[in-house]
Amino acid sequence: MPKKLAPKRVSESRVDRHAISLSPQNMNYRNTVQGAFILAKADEVGGDVAKKHSGRECVTCRVDSTDFLAPAYQGETLVFRAWINRSWTSSMEIEMEVYAEKLGKVLRRVTSPIYFTFVALDRRGKSTRVPEVLPETDDEKKRFKEADRRRQRRLLIPALE
Ligand SMILES: CC(C)(COP(=O)(O)OP(=O)(O)OC[C@H]1O[C@@H](n2cnc3c(N)ncnc32)[C@H](O)[C@@H]1OP(=O)(O)O)[C@@H](O)C(=O)NCCC(=O)NCCS
Repeated sequence: MPKKLAPKRVSESRVDRHAISLSPQNMNYRNTVQGAFILAKADEVGGDVAKKHSGRECVTCRVDSTDFLAPAYQGETLVFRAWINRSWTSSMEIEMEVYAEKLGKVLRRVTSPIYFTFVALDRRGKSTRVPEVLPETDDEKKRFKEADRRRQRRLLIPALE
């Protein structure tokens, strides 16, 4: 395992806005967006945050359960916001919000917060060290603390939550 790396700020990897215009091929039979489409895009956006924070290739290790709170419709824009809450040795918790927008106006939240765990890999495909997260704002400090509690629960019951 490489030595400790310089810590990085949350703002260095945050994705403030990743917007996707919803077209007919993203819709299910009720003409609302498919859940699998949302999760696939969320995984891509979360992976970008993890890669930027770690400077490494990353794999999705875990997605905590999430609720689909409200539909998103054709003609609307699906917006993703994602940021890192905390990192440990090789793993990182990335949190994401997903909401629907039209003409620049937020209409509704589409999911509850989604928590991904990504793991950084070295060139041989082994887990490798990532920089610590340097929380700056009160909100970042709160999320940093809460992330550790969530990790403890994940590692206790990895297959059930
Ligand atoms: C993710 C993966 C690399 C972890 O492998 P592993 O042998 O468990 O690796 P390690 O034991 O070194 O653990 C790596 C980290 O993952 C964490 N981890 C493992 N299982 C976890 C879980 N269920 N929840 C949260 N973290 C977990 C470990 O705690 C460790 O974190 P740390 O280094 O920060 O302390 C491996 O399981 C894998 O390749 N999974 C498939 C990934 C994939 O294909 N994803 C989909 C496509 S990207």
